[in-house]
Amino acid sequence: MAVFFWSKNTFKYMKHVIRAQQFDRGTMERIFLEAEDLQSMDRSEYGETLRGKIVATLFYEPSTRTRLSFESAALQLGASVITTENAREFSSAAKGETLEDTMRVVGKYADAIVLRHFDTGAADRAAQASSVPIINAGDGAGQHPTQALLDLFTIQREIGKIDGISIVFVGDLLYGRTVHSLTYLLTKFKVKKIYFVAPKEVAMRKDILTYLRKKQVDFEEREDVLGVLSKVDVVYQTRIQKERFGDRADVYEKVAGKYVLDRSWMRKMKKRSVVLHPLPRVGEIDPEVDSDLRAGYFRQVENGLYVRMVLLKMILEISDKGRRKRVLSTATQ
Ligand code: CP
Repeated sequence: MAVFFWSKNTFKYMKHVIRAQQFDRGTMERIFLEAEDLQSMDRSEYGETLRGKIVATLFYEPSTRTRLSFESAALQLGASVITTENAREFSSAAKGETLEDTMRVVGKYADAIVLRHFDTGAADRAAQASSVPIINAGDGAGQHPTQALLDLFTIQREIGKIDGISIVFVGDLLYGRTVHSLTYLLTKFKVKKIYFVAPKEVAMRKDILTYLRKKQVDFEEREDVLGVLSKVDVVYQTRIQKERFGDRADVYEKVAGKYVLDRSWMRKMKKRSVVLHPLPRVGEIDPEVDSDLRAGYFRQVENGLYVRMVLLKMILEISDKGRRKRVLSTATQ
């Protein structure tokens, strides 16, 4: 049976999972080892791990992968799941209840809350109000830290390393929350170079570029992708996030469809490289590429299940440890 070894810092800071910057390299490496372990084990070996725990999934925005993989992860570890899949309409948010009050209430029913929300910063607000751990499953155009962890795990598995790699992010880098989180995680490793390829209307966020400069990470912004494909180990393709454009439909129409990954891209890529995409895709990867061994996006989906199992176990263990400590200190007062 696999054993968890979390650092002192992890126990101190990781009550909630809100942003990628929370993760240090050691913690990530442990998560990846554990995820690999789980993948090789039989369900009977870990199926009782979270027996008696309840995980709530509250999704105010649509999702297929994140919600179902968290729910599957919880169920496979023996936990129970309570859920609102369209919390915007079907929870009391529709009657005007604040996010903070909802968190205070759901925390009475569940041991952890997996939250997706349309507002950037919502996970942070939820964590301030919640008595149980909050896991950010995507907050508006902000971050999606658990997706970034599974992305990085996939890079390690596909390329065999993270240090020394070059990566190109393509598409909507302004609103793409997975890109933001993965960029932050990459700064914890010694990557060779990051390329950001996007139409200027959805170029990478300036505050993140400033962060990269501060961390002395080599990066380049450009609009042409074909010139970098032979230089990178990872092509991280993304969808233009139509739902974030509001009344600027003309801007969306202008940028959508600008970068479509097809066989002509694959011919330029290294023999050992990988195409990743957080999914869903809506035309920016031609399905003709799916049969190429370097198309890693469906393996990426499977990796996500194991990474989320480890995260749930980690967060609930830390939460239990914190509770035991509080009980002990009250008893000795
Ligand atoms: N990658 C991702 O977040 O997918 P869903 O929107 O389907 O959860």
